[in-house]
Amino acid sequence: MPAVSETRVGVLISGRGSNMASLIEAAAQPGYPAEIVTVISNKADAGGLVRAEEAGIDTVVIDHKAHADRASFDAALDAALEEAKVELVCLAGFMRLLTPGFTEKWRGRMINIHPALLPSFRGLHTHERALEAGVKIHGCTVHFVTPEMDVGPIIMQAAVPVLEGDTAELLAARVLAQEHIIYPAALRLICEGRARIEGERVVVDEFEVAERALVAPGI
Ligand code: GRF
Repeated sequence: MPAVSETRVGVLISGRGSNMASLIEAAAQPGYPAEIVTVISNKADAGGLVRAEEAGIDTVVIDHKAHADRASFDAALDAALEEAKVELVCLAGFMRLLTPGFTEKWRGRMINIHPALLPSFRGLHTHERALEAGVKIHGCTVHFVTPEMDVGPIIMQAAVPVLEGDTAELLAARVLAQEHIIYPAALRLICEGRARIEGERVVVDEFEVAERALVAPGI
């Protein structure tokens, strides 16, 4: 049987890379429609680099401090992605703002995971802010990247309850477990051509309707 064509994916990280690891693990499964061909970090000491190398994936370090400005850093990123013949970019805890030129070039071909239910809690410290706001449901979002940070079309979300006595760490761990489920699932949808951008929204061709909504506190 001919091999199914797999989308060539590049993952950009800055830190521990647990979401990257979830993508690598998914991509190693037979029938998964993506191949992780390169992992690029702006930090040489990112823990995720070791995990990627252990999985036999090419890694590249592009130190942002070695570049005079964002445009020059983004040009180096772009060159590394082109060199690896990347078709789709996954941001996975990549802590650099990207220039409009770069996001425009990769528009519709670059996705991000954000630890909140967008459009709530864009930016940093989402778990602390969710606790401060007193929300009862929190979660995570996979979305396409556009020039404005944490704003692009939403592909998939998962919700978790906020429990009495939660700390930011406890809540972060509960959300992270869901991130590791929905990031590979959303990547699969895109690579299979089942999720497409229509205006500001993403339309998904087929999906399973959840039988029961998440309600928090539980009733
Ligand atoms: C995750 O919470 C992700 O949602 C956010 O940054 C964190 C990265 O964690 N964008 P990891 O490096 O994937 O473990």
